[in-house]
Amino acid sequence: MIDLFKHAARKGLFLFDPETAHGMSIAALKSGFVPACAIPPDPRLRQTVAGLDFANPLGMAAGFDKNAEVPEALLKIGFGFTEIGTVTPKPQSGNPRPRIFRLVEDEGVINRLGFNNEGHDAVFARLSRISGNGLIGVNIGANKDSDDRIDDYLKGIRRFYSVARYFTANISSPNTPGLRDLQARASLAALLSAALAARDEEAAKSGRKIPVFLKVAPDLTEEGMDDIAAEALSHALDGLIVSNTTLARDGLRDQRQAKETGGLSGKPLFEKSTAVLAKIRKRVGPALPIIGVGGVSSAETALEKIKAGADLVQLYSGMVYEGPGLPGEIVRGLSKLLDREKVSSIRDLRGSRTDYWSARNV
Ligand SMILES: Cc1cc2nc3c(=O)[nH]c(=O)nc-3n(C[C@H](O)[C@H](O)[C@H](O)COP(=O)(O)O)c2cc1C
Repeated sequence: MIDLFKHAARKGLFLFDPETAHGMSIAALKSGFVPACAIPPDPRLRQTVAGLDFANPLGMAAGFDKNAEVPEALLKIGFGFTEIGTVTPKPQSGNPRPRIFRLVEDEGVINRLGFNNEGHDAVFARLSRISGNGLIGVNIGANKDSDDRIDDYLKGIRRFYSVARYFTANISSPNTPGLRDLQARASLAALLSAALAARDEEAAKSGRKIPVFLKVAPDLTEEGMDDIAAEALSHALDGLIVSNTTLARDGLRDQRQAKETGGLSGKPLFEKSTAVLAKIRKRVGPALPIIGVGGVSSAETALEKIKAGADLVQLYSGMVYEGPGLPGEIVRGLSKLLDREKVSSIRDLRGSRTDYWSARNV
C-alpha cells in the first residue's frame, strides 16, 4: 500500500491541483482507506517534553488537518503527535484559489491559504467527539479582519482548554497581513503575558496545566532571534516551534512556480529552518523545549533536526511527496539510526550538532 502510494497514488494525486489532492488525502484517511501502521514500540524514542509523554518524536505539523477531521487516523499511521489548526475564532474562507503550488523539481510547496478554517465552534465540536487520549495539539490564530488579534489567541486558549493537550500560538504565517508583526518584541511581550495569564486562569479552574508553544518564522534577523529567545525565557513559555514557511526563494529550480506569492516549505526550507533552530537553541539554553519543522522528509533529516537542537520534529510537505507511509518509515528509520549511533535514548543526540548548524549563514 505504502509503495503503491509512492508510485501510483502520487502520480494519480499529482494529476489534480494540490488543494483537491489534499482533500482526497483527507477523505482517504477519514474512510480508513489508509491502513494503520504497526510500529514496534522503541523505548529509545520515548520522551517526556513539556510534561507530555511522546511515544516517538515525530508529529504532523499544523495546516494538514486544519479542521480536526483526521487526528486519530494520523496517529494511527505512525505520528507520535498531531497538531490541528490553525483555527481562528470565526470561520473564514482564506484567499482565492489557486493558493497551493507544488515545486516538484525542488520537492517544495508554496501556499497562500490565509487561514481557511471552519472556526472555533465547528472544530471544538469535532474534537470533543474524539474519545481516545491521543496527543493532539491545537494551533490557534487570529481572524484576518480581527480588531483585537491578541484577544483572538485568548479566545482560542479558553475555547479549546478542555480538549487540547498543548497549544501553539501561530504568529508566523506570512499569509495574514501583519500577523508576523506580533514577533516584534513589544507585541510579543504583550501576547505572551496575556496568553499565559489566560492559560493560568484555565489551569486554576481545571487543575490541569496545558503547555503553550509559540511558532515562529524562519525569516528572522539575529536581533529578532535575540528578542524571541529573551521573551520566551522571561515569560516562562513552554516551548518554541521553529519554523513556519519562508518568504525566501533562494536556490529554487522551478522558477515559474517560485514567483507565486506565499510561504515556501519542504526540502528547500530544510537548511534555513535548521540553522534558525540551532541559533535559537544557542540563545535559550538546553531546558526550553523546541519542536523543529521545515523540510523533514526522511529519518536522516528528522535526526538532523534533533542534532541541531530539537526535542521533537514535525513535517507537512514530506507527506505531499512521499505519502502516508512516510511517518512509519521515518519512525522505523530512527530506530535503525539509533542502533548505529549506539545510544540508549534519542535525547542523547539532541544538540550534538547545534554548533555546526548555528554557524551556518542561510
Ligand atoms: C499547505 C500548507 C498549509 C499550512 N498551514 C499552516 C497553518 O494553518 N498553521 C501553521 O502554523 N502552519 C501551517 N503550515 C506550515 C507547516 O506547519 C510547517 O511549519 C511548514 O510547512 C514547514 O514544514 P514542512 O517543510 O515539513 O512542510 C502550512 C504548510 C503548508 C504546506
